[in-house]
Amino acid sequence: MKDHYPPLNPKAPVFLHGGDYNPDQWTPDVWEEDMRLMKLAHCNAMSVGIFAWAALEPTEGSFDFSWLDRVMDLIAENNGYAVLATPSGARPAWLARTYPQVLRVRPDRQRNLFGRRHNHCPSSPVYREKTRTINAKLAERYQDHPALIVWHISNEYSGECHCNLCRAAFRRWLMEKYESLDVLNQTWWTAFWSHTYSDWGEIDPPSEIGETSVHGLNLDWKRFVTDMTIDFMRHEIAPLRDHTPDVPVTTNFMGTFPGLNYWKMAPHIDVISWDSYPNWHAGDDVRLASDTAFVHDINRSLKDGKPFMLMESVPSATNWQPAAKVKRPGMHALSSLQAVAHGSDTVQYFQWRKSRGSAEKFHGAVVDHVGHEKTRVFQEVAKLGRQLERLQDVVGTTVRPDVALIYDWENNWAMNDAQGPRRGDKGYLDLCKRTYRAFWQQGIPVDIIDMDQDFSRYKLLVAPMLYMIRRGVDQRIAEFVEGGGTFVCTYWSGIVDENDLVFLNGWPGGKLREVLGLWAEEIDALYEGDTNAIVFGDDEALGLSGEYQARDYCDLVHAEGAIVLATYKEDFYAGRPALTRNAYGSGEAYYITSNNDDDFLTAFYGALAGKLDLLRSINIALPHGVSAQLRSDGERRYVFIMNFNAAPVQLDLGDQAYTDLLSGDEFTGEVELAAYAVKVLN
Ligand code: GLA
Ligand code: ZN
Repeated sequence: MKDHYPPLNPKAPVFLHGGDYNPDQWTPDVWEEDMRLMKLAHCNAMSVGIFAWAALEPTEGSFDFSWLDRVMDLIAENNGYAVLATPSGARPAWLARTYPQVLRVRPDRQRNLFGRRHNHCPSSPVYREKTRTINAKLAERYQDHPALIVWHISNEYSGECHCNLCRAAFRRWLMEKYESLDVLNQTWWTAFWSHTYSDWGEIDPPSEIGETSVHGLNLDWKRFVTDMTIDFMRHEIAPLRDHTPDVPVTTNFMGTFPGLNYWKMAPHIDVISWDSYPNWHAGDDVRLASDTAFVHDINRSLKDGKPFMLMESVPSATNWQPAAKVKRPGMHALSSLQAVAHGSDTVQYFQWRKSRGSAEKFHGAVVDHVGHEKTRVFQEVAKLGRQLERLQDVVGTTVRPDVALIYDWENNWAMNDAQGPRRGDKGYLDLCKRTYRAFWQQGIPVDIIDMDQDFSRYKLLVAPMLYMIRRGVDQRIAEFVEGGGTFVCTYWSGIVDENDLVFLNGWPGGKLREVLGLWAEEIDALYEGDTNAIVFGDDEALGLSGEYQARDYCDLVHAEGAIVLATYKEDFYAGRPALTRNAYGSGEAYYITSNNDDDFLTAFYGALAGKLDLLRSINIALPHGVSAQLRSDGERRYVFIMNFNAAPVQLDLGDQAYTDLLSGDEFTGEVELAAYAVKVLN
């Protein structure tokens, strides 16, 4: 079966390689030099205009596109592509001064002054009018330009505004959702501390100087902020669609940034893109590689396997991490090709050329202040550019994993807002990443989805800490297991509904209790440093044995039909269930009651992978720190083998013969992978 996506834009059926380009900070002689360097760097894509509003509209209503005309032409003349941005991420000083209402109001009700960026009110009619005008002018002017291939909408949308307009919009949003104040009061459980509202006008967004204790309000505000951002983004996209219906639009996401639910934003854009800045060489690079892969997989999953764009990454070091540790030789290609391995069809940077002044003058770039190509970083970029050219056939391919892991934004919001059973961060993202790593280290591809996606195509569905169950999700999980799927969830699951109201009549709530065949009566939260252990009995099917350490949380459950595979070793609940399996329909559902060590995750998910015969990228043993990831069109398979160790490792490829697309070399049997080396086997 062919499984191949068309290129991002038919004009550019290749990997995009390039970066954020700010010609508006420089003079035309520098632009000419940029073009020469762009070719030397084997770059073909420049993201222009991201923060160029002041250059495009120097004073209100007077526009100057002459410089951008020349830049766009230069890019096209040099066979490059332009990722053209709408400039709403930062605004000109005149705009803020003439119309202070375009600036954001903080939760303490103070309006920001002009400055920095990402500082606009999404409701402001003036801001909306000004963005519509500039976006329409850009679209009209460049609609037929040969360089234009993608629209880059604004930049890293984030933040919230508490002005009168935004607060009124929030109240309208609530009225639409709840229709009656009684329903809202009920849903938010406002009788608590006498917070019952008697008029819609009494409702204000959460604020440190006001309400923070009504969890339903907090959750709805976050949902509203996402919806408001989408509304603003759609407002930005509308004039582009009018003029350029065939040019795809994207906006750059920020990984697991908690401020916006990217699953809600994804349907409104044509291609997913994200900005990836792992701080390599700061500690355990192998763990970081897995954590980064996790986020790449979210971005691929956001559009159901469609290739995404690595919109930003740094060719050397950033200027905002604790120390600007430069990438060790080889790490640049490795981390870039890792994105490609997980589904990116681009490798793009922040930034093309280091600026001379202001906040990002020391941020890594392809072109350094020295200005020429004879730098280590430039040469690594150029080398990667040549490598991407050799991987041409990989463009448009994807992967169809057997496993889906649920990482859900709203679940994260609700769980972390709760006081109890531990303070502060509940460890949800951490558990998701650690669980992911159990698959990553075996070269098993994984989709990372939210709880609203279709489960039916997977063999295994893993839902760590599924605290919230939105309406219908338990039913869909039940159907998945009934139909033969394997479901795994953990402690602190099935606790609240989509309104953050606790399920009554026994956890895990809804149908989950029946699917898992147990009742979770109470949960013991352990102090930092406290441990318990879980001990395996003789389980034929999984073949696990021995003991594993448990920390943080120990759920105390009663099996109600589930088989007990492991029990607690210590404390008053010694001997009670610690891992259970329940047969349900033609499938099985497992429950892990405690936060167990990584060895447990490796052993447990390893055993499940064997039992379920899960798709692996390559059927070989992977040494520690070596990752294998698959891209395929359904026929040809491209296996990316990546060594995240700072030292060489030996790998046994077995009897099959492979060609490495990067070097053209053929391999079979034992091979050595140098430190940070990548091979793309075909
Ligand atoms: C973000 C922004 C860029 C730049 C980089 C620096 O991703 O989108 O404009 O500031 O950070 O790392
Ligand atoms: Zn506002």
